[in-house]
Parts: sequence; C-alpha cells; structure tokens
Amino acid sequence: MKEIKIKITEDKEYKICIKKGILINLDEHLSKTIENKRIIIITNSLVNCLYGVKLLSSLKKGGFNPDLIDLIEVPDGEKYKSLSTAKYLYDELLKRKADRTTTFIALGGGVIGDLTGFVAATYMRGLPLVHIPTTLLAQVDSSIGGKVAIDHHLAKNIIGSFYQPKAVYTDPEVLQTLSDKDIKNGIVEAIKIAVIKSPAFFKWIEKNIDLLIKKHRDLLCELVKEAVSLKADIVLKDPWEKGLRKVLNFGHSIGHALEVGAGYQDLSHGEAVALGMLVETKIARNRGMCLEEFEKQIKQILSFPPACAVHADRRKRESKSLFQYIKNIDYNQFWETLTLDKKNSQGKITFILPEALGKAVLIDDINKKEVIEALEEFKKEWKLC
Ligand SMILES: NC(=O)c1ccc[n+]([C@@H]2O[C@H](COP(=O)([O-])OP(=O)(O)OC[C@H]3O[C@@H](n4cnc5c(N)ncnc54)[C@H](O)[C@@H]3O)[C@@H](O)[C@H]2O)c1
Ligand SMILES: [Zn+2]
Repeated sequence: MKEIKIKITEDKEYKICIKKGILINLDEHLSKTIENKRIIIITNSLVNCLYGVKLLSSLKKGGFNPDLIDLIEVPDGEKYKSLSTAKYLYDELLKRKADRTTTFIALGGGVIGDLTGFVAATYMRGLPLVHIPTTLLAQVDSSIGGKVAIDHHLAKNIIGSFYQPKAVYTDPEVLQTLSDKDIKNGIVEAIKIAVIKSPAFFKWIEKNIDLLIKKHRDLLCELVKEAVSLKADIVLKDPWEKGLRKVLNFGHSIGHALEVGAGYQDLSHGEAVALGMLVETKIARNRGMCLEEFEKQIKQILSFPPACAVHADRRKRESKSLFQYIKNIDYNQFWETLTLDKKNSQGKITFILPEALGKAVLIDDINKKEVIEALEEFKKEWKLC
C-alpha cells in the first residue's frame, strides 16, 4: 500500500491510502479514521449499484452499526454539481437528523467528491469527510488537495471552499468498471500534472498510453501513485493556492470557459481540459514562450480521444450540439466567461502557460485577440470550421 501524508497545518494532516482491493478491506482503516459512528454516504445510483454494497460490508466488518449508516443518491452528471443538488442534500440531512456526530463519505467521481465536500464544509459549519474516489480523474486529481465546490451557470467551481478530508481511500481496482471515455478523462489530468511538473512522468505516460487506455491494472495503479505524489508535493507547499499551486490550473482557463459555454453538458471536464491544454499551448507558442517541438509533443500525447473527440466527423456523429457550439463559438460571450475566472485579479485575465516540459508559469496579461486567434487556429487544425 502506498500512503501519502498531507500536512495542512502544524497539527493537521491526513492520509491518502492507495491500494488495490482496499475498498473491500476498509474495515480497520475506517474504524481508526472515523470516530463518529453515524455515517452518511453520498453517491449516485450507478456507483451505488457497483460499489455501495461493498462499502457497506466493509463498514459492518469495521464494527459500524448498520442502523447508523445512511446512503443518499444524487443524480449523475456535472450539471448536478449545483446549488439545487446541494439544497436537496441539506434537506435530506435535516430530515435524517444528521448532526455533529455524523461523518460524510463521498463515494464516486469528481462530481460526487466536490459536491459532498462542499456540503460537508458548510452543513453545521463543517462535518468530517472521507473521500473514496472511484474515477481515474478523482483518484489522480480531485480527491487530493481539499478544493470543494459547486458550479454556477455563469462560472465553474465558483462557489466553494478549501476543506480537507479526514482521509482518502483509493482503490485502483474500481477503475476496471469505468468507461473508456472516463479512463481517458483521468489520463488527461495526469498528463496535465506531468506537463507542469515532471518530464519523466510525461515520458512514462507517452510510453504506456495504449496499455493505460486498455485499463492495464498495474500501470493504472502506477499512474495513480505517481500523479498523487506529484500533486501532493505541490499541495503541501501551497495548500491554500496562494501561488505555486495555481500551475495545476494549466488547461483550465479555456477548459472551464468551454464547459460553461456548453452548459455543463456534452463536454466532460477531462475533454474540456484536453482542449484547454491544446489552446493554451497554442497561445504560449504564439507568444514565443515555447518551442514548436513542445507544441507537437502536447498535440501528439493528446491526439487520443478525448482531444480527437472534437474531430469533425466523429463529433458530428456523437454530439452535434458540442460541434455546433465550438464551431459557432461566440467570442464576446467566451471572453466574458474568462473574466469571471477565479485566478484573475485586479481585472487582469490570468492563464497558466507552459514553457517546456516540467515548466509552466502564470501570465496575467492575456488579451482577447490572442485568445480568439488561438481558438481560430485550433478550429482550423481540427477541421471545426
Ligand atoms: N476538487 C478538485 O481539485 C478537482 C480537480 C479536478 C477535477 N475536479 C472536478 O471533478 C469533476 C469531474 O470528475 P469525473 O471526471 O470523475 O466525473 P464524474 O464524477 O461525473 O464521473 C464520471 C462518470 O463515471 C461514473 N463512475 C464513477 N465511478 C465509476 C466506476 N468506478 N465505474 C463506472 N463508472 C463510474 C460516474 O457515475 C459518472 O457517470 C468536475 O466537476 C471537475 O471540476 C475537481
Ligand atoms: Zn481539472
């Protein structure tokens, strides 16, 4: 088992435990982590069908009383990472008389993790939280670092907080039931971490990408461990995202604006980030910040779907509305969305742009013209116009 400790303050730290099969053997871990005997699991119906019973039996083995365990399902999908779903959860928690002796368990992907974390942070001014991430994206990225949030229809993740869990239990075995698309979405966030921090990890992903996509058990486990170690290293140095940690947002300025524009439908977070990395690399290239060779490497590694999911023919078949949205993108509206991004300060639009493998920097004088130019070039290259 790989165990990574994240120390937030002198007296506060939590563990990320990564081990194949840990979900069905959580009993002893949970009884050490969860002092409260009352537990509320938040998940969706798909993840509940796949892993709900396994988690419940782990809890029973750990000595938790089944009568004190509740499970609440929320609908599946990014558009439900919203204030109205949070309100539904607050109503349910009150109905079920959740109190300060309650611990929340987030069982699911990044949507469940962010939403449950947000509710855990705000209900009764904060109740203990445990993450059990079940998508690759949640395992390599969203369950690490304590960012919790819900979306607003005008801006992504705009209502949120920093709220650290008591622990994160990561079982790479659960990735075997994940769709191919969600495996690729997770690989995208791992590639992002590699681009900003580790040329060696980038090369490793390049070498193993075909087997990773085919869900090779040992390689997926390695991918999760390495991505978590790299992200944890950044989070440890800057837990509240005052500086260094901002680099983790590479691809996310454009990516988030695309997600908002698409109404949190048709375009997953991983796909949006892949497109965001391509367009932001193009902006860096146009500024002369990186070499042509570097842009080629980024295009090459992201040439597997989801990036090529925007390729005209395939996208026309699969999602006409997204194809139409990118094709007819309203640049004024797009720029307006970029002005609402959390990274901006004092009216300056801030992007994270790459310079080379392992090196990304904060640029705070992004202008509308260069964003439009990069998007137009991107559309031409991917035959979207
Ligand atoms: N908090 C952070 O630091 C952070 C970082 C990155 C991303 N995020 C957020 O994460 C979200 C995206 O997360 P995601 O990609 O996990 O999407 P998701 O949570 O919507 O999960 C994708 C799909 O996989 C299904 N699923 C989950 N586990 C499964 C399993 N083991 N087998 C089969 N199906 C399974 C889900 O039901 C869903 O349909 C976005 O909202 C993004 O903003 C947050
Ligand atoms: Zn992300």
